[in-house]
Amino acid sequence: MAVIGIMDSGVGGLSVYREVVKLLPDEHYIYYADNAHCPYGEKTAAYIIDRAFSIVDLMIGRGARVVVVACNTATAAAIAALRAHYDIPFIGMEPAVKPAAMNTRSGVIGVLATAGTLKASKYLMTRGRFEDDVRIVESVGQGFVELVESGELAGPHAEAVVRTSLQPLLDAGADTVVLGCTHYPFLLPVLQRVAAQLGAPGVRFIDPAPAVARRLVQVMQQEGIAREPAGSGSLETLSSGPDAAIRRIMLILQEQI
Ligand code: DGL
Repeated sequence: MAVIGIMDSGVGGLSVYREVVKLLPDEHYIYYADNAHCPYGEKTAAYIIDRAFSIVDLMIGRGARVVVVACNTATAAAIAALRAHYDIPFIGMEPAVKPAAMNTRSGVIGVLATAGTLKASKYLMTRGRFEDDVRIVESVGQGFVELVESGELAGPHAEAVVRTSLQPLLDAGADTVVLGCTHYPFLLPVLQRVAAQLGAPGVRFIDPAPAVARRLVQVMQQEGIAREPAGSGSLETLSSGPDAAIRRIMLILQEQI
């Protein structure tokens, strides 16, 4: 049985599950929201590595053959340590700087991510590969994770929070904005609304989740992880804190998947 583990600091990784399950609808998923320790964005790498190891141990104990680290911050902090320690494959997140650089017409791309992701060497290397070709401006999505965890995905307060972090990117001329945290795609409607209010209705937001889903399919093929027969898909959700946020987001996903 192919069990796929998906982990995040909270419900953000469900934006990745949403894309993965479109390509692999028949697999068995364990989703782990580490919401008792959320947000990861300002935590040390050592803390996140420790959390990631506990979660992966639990997932392997439940039969996981592959784990998607559906969190940019945890990928930046922990994926190298996870790959060195365990003998299952890990799929990580990376801000979609490359597709943004290929798509921009203004020559300026914005990256919205957590402080942890933006200062990690993994991101700085990616940035270094493209900064000769395009101008890259960054902004921490301050308060975005909290909005998503509390289910506040619209309304004047959500718009005000989003505006504070989005405006500097648009003021710098970004026409393409990378969503570099898996929580942020759930704020896409409010991001689009605020972009329109700020006079940039055509700004494009890039969610890397579809590319991550394609990568998972590829890795499962390479590793010989057999797919399940049609009709056998399942999802088990686990969390280190209350599960209200997961239930709220699952209601939204049910309309989308
Ligand atoms: N969803 C996460 C990410 O992709 C983590 C956000 C957080 O816990 O700060 O970075």
